[in-house]
Amino acid sequence: MTASHQLRIVRIGLAGLGNIGLGVYKNLEKNGGLLRERTGFDLKITRIAVRDPDKKREIPPGGARSTGDWRELVADPQLDIIVELIGGTTEAFDLVCAALRAKKPVVTGNKALLAERGPELFRLAEENHVPIYFEAAVAGGIPIIQTLQEGFVGNHIRSIHGIINGTCNYILTRMSAEGVSYQAALADAQRLGFAEADPTLDVSGWDAAHKAIILASLSYGFWVKPEDTFVQGIEQVSQTDIRFAAQLGYTIKLLSVIRADEKGRVEVRTQPSLVPQGHVLASIGGAFNAVLVHGDIVGETLFYGKGAGQDPTSSSVISDIAEAAATLHYGSRHSGFVPHGLYGKSKPVDETISNFYVRLTVADKPGVLARVAAVFGESGIGISSVIQPDEPDARITPLIFMLDAATLRDVRAAMKAVAALDCVREEPSWLRVETMSEPQG
Ligand code: HSE
Repeated sequence: MTASHQLRIVRIGLAGLGNIGLGVYKNLEKNGGLLRERTGFDLKITRIAVRDPDKKREIPPGGARSTGDWRELVADPQLDIIVELIGGTTEAFDLVCAALRAKKPVVTGNKALLAERGPELFRLAEENHVPIYFEAAVAGGIPIIQTLQEGFVGNHIRSIHGIINGTCNYILTRMSAEGVSYQAALADAQRLGFAEADPTLDVSGWDAAHKAIILASLSYGFWVKPEDTFVQGIEQVSQTDIRFAAQLGYTIKLLSVIRADEKGRVEVRTQPSLVPQGHVLASIGGAFNAVLVHGDIVGETLFYGKGAGQDPTSSSVISDIAEAAATLHYGSRHSGFVPHGLYGKSKPVDETISNFYVRLTVADKPGVLARVAAVFGESGIGISSVIQPDEPDARITPLIFMLDAATLRDVRAAMKAVAALDCVREEPSWLRVETMSEPQG
């Protein structure tokens, strides 16, 4: 039996008709029949708020009326759900607050907004008994939010390792597979529609960090503050490091790491990291995302898919719209985020532990290796391997160390001392090596 015999019209106000907004509009039209059959709801975008209502668009808004002011959506008593896809954190904050106060459920894909102002928004949602849905905010088309909120509700999350920025993964993949320059790969990512309007958000690591904050907060029940997360972008990743990492059996990825230690302190960090070539995360190429979640009951699970782009992201927005419609009809379980007191503290980044890769440019003369090794030794940091490429005619040469697991504090101090040695000729390059292991320390 289909659900169509009890069809209910659900009217949606869409704020923002950019790349993702257009995708939501198009795909709701395309698969409206399927959604009607599956959900029993006729999900209709009836009003659209755009910055310039007179602008000619790829898809004419059809039956939907356009306005230049999102306040009209919020004030419209006919609208059941508000979809926020305008981006940014100022106007979008006002819009979401106004919609919640008007008791309208909100669907948003705005990771920056949630990461920065999540606690205020979820409090308001709770006070007004209306939910916020945000599946599209993390990993595009991969349903990782529902997975954490529902699928893994019975698990303590031990760790999450994610490649959650399509633009950075696309750039790093092309740099390593084809030797394409960073700038050329970034320009292609922008042309293909993966990159944010301001791609600095992508390459600085902050887009992934915002997503990591959301995943960590859902996993550990307290909203992680942006200032407690460690973020490093891919701007400084060089072809030289990509090449040496490959020689050592690693691929460089922008990796987000989330995990709690035995004291319940949670580390949340995003940085370019060396991933062993044999690990499944090393094989994630192009704009694809992957999220490896380790739950105490379920064990290790992997979610893979398109993490950016119009269609995959709109798939998640549409799933939220369907869920919001069902909640309007059948009632809500929670407002979007369930705080709890089992964890509750971020781990200072200086105390986080991992292995490290270090590339130095040194004077090619006897004794240099011993002097650098002595600094690491005095800092209590073990060395697991060293390579010094054979360059007989050069006066300076690369020298690469793989370091054993150590705290960031110790490695930072040691690197300061190493950089100050007179035999070290350029600013050292050093990156984390992630083995996807259980937390230490
Ligand atoms: N700019 C983002 C990315 C889009 O490249 O992953 C999805 O959030």
